[in-house]
Amino acid sequence: MKVSDRAPEYVRAIAPYVGGKPIEELARELHLDPGTIIKLASNENPRGASPKVQAAIAAAVSELTRYPDGNAFALKAALASRLGVAAEQIVLGNGSNDVLELVAQAFLRPGDHVVFSQYAFIVYPLATQARGARGIEVPAKDYGHDLDAMRSAITSETRVVFIANPNNPTGTWLPGHVVERFIDSVPRDVIVVLDEAYNEFLDPSEQAESTAWVSTHPNLVVSHTFSKAHGLAALRVGYGVMNPEVADLLNRVRQPFNVNALAQAAALAALDDVQYVEDSRRLNREGMRQLESALRELGVRFLPSRGNFVMIEVGDASAVYQALLRDGVIVRPVANYNLPTWLRVTVGTTSENERFLAALARSIASSGGTARAH
Ligand SMILES: Cc1ncc(COP(=O)(O)O)c(C=O)c1O
Repeated sequence: MKVSDRAPEYVRAIAPYVGGKPIEELARELHLDPGTIIKLASNENPRGASPKVQAAIAAAVSELTRYPDGNAFALKAALASRLGVAAEQIVLGNGSNDVLELVAQAFLRPGDHVVFSQYAFIVYPLATQARGARGIEVPAKDYGHDLDAMRSAITSETRVVFIANPNNPTGTWLPGHVVERFIDSVPRDVIVVLDEAYNEFLDPSEQAESTAWVSTHPNLVVSHTFSKAHGLAALRVGYGVMNPEVADLLNRVRQPFNVNALAQAAALAALDDVQYVEDSRRLNREGMRQLESALRELGVRFLPSRGNFVMIEVGDASAVYQALLRDGVIVRPVANYNLPTWLRVTVGTTSENERFLAALARSIASSGGTARAH
């Protein structure tokens, strides 16, 4: 028997996560100048990190020989005061992805049920499978979460429910009162993870008071990230807000130093830079309008999105993806979500969006228009 055969069958069966193609990789493959490539494939912030964040990182560099503060006192205190919760309610993660994994690690045994929606963020099934738990995928409604059907899928075997709002890759979104009603209906011994990675791209009037719901819902975990609107994807820092007892459990299974010192310093500065987030939201809204109106003109169907990305239907998505790559434009295929005719495109800067749209128009023209409306 090979040593790899000793790993649990459910681990061997995992289909690895496939991220957006890195710029350097495409440059190597097609002998392109990396400077000419644009990447709209990982829902990153196209603006570059804020100068305040860069200064905070530079200042923290002198302490590189020290371990970080494993309890991240300063960052948790700042988050607690911003969100109006206690520091004991916050668990930091190496990206919010880490928080999702920590929930799975703390609560799931092999065979337990985990409920999530069809087309929901792919890390939910991955984290489920890595524990030998059973994913219950609930059919989507108009590509988004069907909360009534998800409620009906919860049984005595369900331990965790994942909801992404807005959802990636579909960009679908549900108003706060609808989500709150759903959370209210879930038995209090079932964890509900409300993943709000794209929350800051919503108009402030649409951002739910979800972290406040934790006080009345001890089974609720709200996760947020610094990767998107705050522009810190490379540093990997996110957090969950939850009942202190749940936080205590997650902290037991968390690596002691899961958020590095530069990430902590950067997140602290990013939290303070309210203007950066506002500007990111505005740029995203303008970029989304730019993409939507051009896509309409091209006759390309898209799903209205509340995130910093949009899903477009292009027929043979794999062929269009390859054609865009040859044009130096990286977007994201979503065939792994069982959406083989769609591509997900991150909103870039105005000029990046223009380049993408021009490349898309070329690829449609060269395929004889087969990528047009479906
Ligand atoms: C819905 C959703 N949740 C969580 C994450 C994880 O992001 P991070 O680990 O960078 O915080 C992502 C990243 O794309 C996402 O789309």
